[in-house]
Amino acid sequence: MERTFVMVKPDGVRRGLVGEILGRFERKGFRLVGLRMLRIGRELAEAHYAEHREKPFFQGLVEFITSGPVVAFVLEGPNAIAEVRKMMGATHPKDALPGTIRGDFATTIDENVIHGSASPEDAAREIALFFREEELL
Ligand code: PPS
Repeated sequence: MERTFVMVKPDGVRRGLVGEILGRFERKGFRLVGLRMLRIGRELAEAHYAEHREKPFFQGLVEFITSGPVVAFVLEGPNAIAEVRKMMGATHPKDALPGTIRGDFATTIDENVIHGSASPEDAAREIALFFREEELL
């Protein structure tokens, strides 16, 4: 069993894709163990994306993720981290296959609808940033 952190980004929430995205993961068989809707502040955004601090798109990414509400959740299941990333599709929507979330719902890298943890270390760090232990059921 593995847990992963997933977030529907502001573009996905604005476009009304939360139910569709959560539904895909639930139908696949992942268990929803935590869920919250929030407006991310600059401090949390910079902590969440700390590893990308030196990248040229960092400021834009922080602006975007703080631009509106997000829906953050934790999923649990076998190989959840890799399986969720597979269902999300490639980071750049131009490379994301039809049938994946980004392949079906996104066209540009700067608004690519969804985030999912990339590794067990990232998952543990991101879950702890967004959820208290008692919020995971
Ligand atoms: S990966 O696979 O998550 O490690 O992808 P990576 O390419 O390292 O990108 C990390 C996050 O930065 C976002 N990104 C961008 N945003 C805006 N403009 C540009 N050019 C850009 N390139 C990458 C990408 O969507 C990743 O966001 P998250 O939320 O982690 O998916």
